[in-house]
Amino acid sequence: MNLIVATGNEDKVREINEILKGSDFVAISMKSLGINPEIDENADSFEGNALIKVRTVHSITQDYVMADDSGLCIDALNGAPGIFSARFCGENSTYEEKFKKIFDLLKDVPAEKRTAQFVCAIAVVKPDGSEFTVRGTVDGILVETPQGNNGFGYDPIFYVPEYEMTTAQMDPELKNKISHRGKALNQMVAKLVHK
Ligand code: IMP
Repeated sequence: MNLIVATGNEDKVREINEILKGSDFVAISMKSLGINPEIDENADSFEGNALIKVRTVHSITQDYVMADDSGLCIDALNGAPGIFSARFCGENSTYEEKFKKIFDLLKDVPAEKRTAQFVCAIAVVKPDGSEFTVRGTVDGILVETPQGNNGFGYDPIFYVPEYEMTTAQMDPELKNKISHRGKALNQMVAKLVHK
């Protein structure tokens, strides 16, 4: 069965297919099917934004549809940047600029309070219109000096104490196993395949 992923990012689709191996599902990006709707992600939660995406795509194709929404939540900043992670500091700012803003905002925060979470919510709509959401998280500490070249986004400043490295220092296999996205994807597959 097709699982349409509300994304144009083929890397995401490949990662999902790795996890779906051995099941009846094959993930396909909406873009590869020529589906490219205007989507206004204006909800106030990760789950809300993921639901907006799946509902929009489900109105076009009645297959299984999934979408994710993720971000970095910093405890000392009441969860910011959260759903605004990609747009933090302005749509076109670099991650160096985003890091600098975070370092400025956290300059008076003691090391033990520089805690943060990566959060990933996934929403699924089934052909019959029923929906579910799942959420995966990973806990970390924001370091003052970016470290590592793997991954993307906030990975160089997100240190995971259990592994004594940032998510940018992890090889992709390890990151996929322990990450917010990996955990949410596994929960989604468990719900989809095993009910
Ligand atoms: P999206 O949900 O894939 O659009 O991700 C939203 C934003 O959250 C990204 O642009 C990054 O800024 C941040 N983000 C989400 N997941 C990760 C991650 O695994 N590493 C680093 N940054 C992330």
